[in-house]
Amino acid sequence: MVGAHPKSTVCVSLDCRRQIVEKQRAKNAALRLEKKLNTPISQTLDMMRFLAMTTPGLERWCQEELIEKLGDCQIVIPLNARGRVFFNCPLTEKTLQQLKQLLSVERLVAVIWVSNSIPHDGKTWKCKPTRSKDQTRANQEQREMDIKVEREEVLLHLENEVLGKGQWSIALESLVEWHKQPLPAEVKFRASCERHGTHVFKSNELAGSVGSAVNRKYRWSVDLTNFLLDVFVYVVDNEFVCGLTLLGEEEVKERFRAPLLPGFTPITALKPSTAYSMAKLARIQPGEIVCDPFAGIGTIPIEASHSSCHPYSSNSFISSASSHNFFCLGGDLAMDSLRQAAVNHKSTQQPPRTHVDWINWDVQSIPLRAGFLDVIITDMPFGLRHGKYTMMAPLYHSFVRELPRVLSADNPNSRAFLLTICTNLLANVLQQTPGIYVDSTVECLIGGLQAKIFCVKLSRQT
Ligand SMILES: C[S@@+](CC[C@H](N)C(=O)[O-])C[C@H]1O[C@@H](n2cnc3c(N)ncnc32)[C@H](O)[C@@H]1O
Repeated sequence: MVGAHPKSTVCVSLDCRRQIVEKQRAKNAALRLEKKLNTPISQTLDMMRFLAMTTPGLERWCQEELIEKLGDCQIVIPLNARGRVFFNCPLTEKTLQQLKQLLSVERLVAVIWVSNSIPHDGKTWKCKPTRSKDQTRANQEQREMDIKVEREEVLLHLENEVLGKGQWSIALESLVEWHKQPLPAEVKFRASCERHGTHVFKSNELAGSVGSAVNRKYRWSVDLTNFLLDVFVYVVDNEFVCGLTLLGEEEVKERFRAPLLPGFTPITALKPSTAYSMAKLARIQPGEIVCDPFAGIGTIPIEASHSSCHPYSSNSFISSASSHNFFCLGGDLAMDSLRQAAVNHKSTQQPPRTHVDWINWDVQSIPLRAGFLDVIITDMPFGLRHGKYTMMAPLYHSFVRELPRVLSADNPNSRAFLLTICTNLLANVLQQTPGIYVDSTVECLIGGLQAKIFCVKLSRQT
């Protein structure tokens, strides 16, 4: 079988014993991961494993939403989570409907194969110090040859695992059920890859390798733009996941945003999934007034308006209000952003549950009476797109100075959740501002950049 493969020259050169050891190692690794994921690798026809991708650092709130919407699904957040949440649930009409309601998820994948057998030791790439020029050249050539052999070996190993052991039929079944359409006679597909860590292959090489193996096995044709199936490969260090994308980032955006108004280009918009997780983090209570003072095109107020209140707790300010009965405000300096926000809010496919008011303002003097707000959830401006970093300092100072005034002293739990990548600047400004303190922080990645959500509360005299 190996000899029939186009990469046979590489394979036959492998030492037989090494292959056996490799196989055993892969098997053990898969078993270890399976143990970690709690369930046996063989999925029964009515149980499907899914991978939900969410904002790295905010996995907990994705898990919370899964429990809230799906009830009893086995959930696993891997140690090196990087925005990944695995869960198992039965493939029924009801669960598929519930999966379509998930708002903290930016990509949902029906898992075909999971393994942790990828070599990812960066050292295999590194050149050892050498003495002479000739030796350097010889070493260089040898090293390139070694890397090439290793790359071919790993790619072939992964192809064989995915195609030979992957749960294709149930993943395809879930895709058909998801779209409520049978597979057409001619299936168009693409293979895509997201990779973190150092490996002997590049992302496009892995996607290409898996793609050509799928093409050979299923005779589906490759179409990178007009595809029905996205065979998604995700690699982080030695872990490898392959699956079919049910919900991709573009579809998520389309679900939650209207087409842009003529002539309008948004500067930076938060991912709806991040905004939703922030709203969950805020644990909005019935009757509270929630505000995003840097609302942009409205992602946070809109997602907050879809989130239900946190179950009544003793902290709840107004206990008699119904579970979606809170109030939302979104303010911004840019009028055109607010126009887009209002259109987005009206057109989201999920019916908004809470009304949102949009106000044009400058946060340096928020035109609200003292103590008006219970909760502030915001994604603060940062970086070049909003002016130079040095220009951020006065803006941060003026805004943070407003917090002890606008947050309600009558609500014992009034709070602000401030997201930024200018973490040192905000930490300093918060520390220098009287009347408030940082209760906790949550680290996360926004567009690959390290960011933090500061949870700020009013200091109260006892
Ligand atoms: C990081 S963006 C927020 C994006 C928003 N979360 C979204 O999804 O569209 C920061 C926003 O702050 C607004 N902004 C900057 N300076 C402001 C100020 N002084 N007062 C009010 N808004 C301001 C910008 O117009 C921009 O829309």
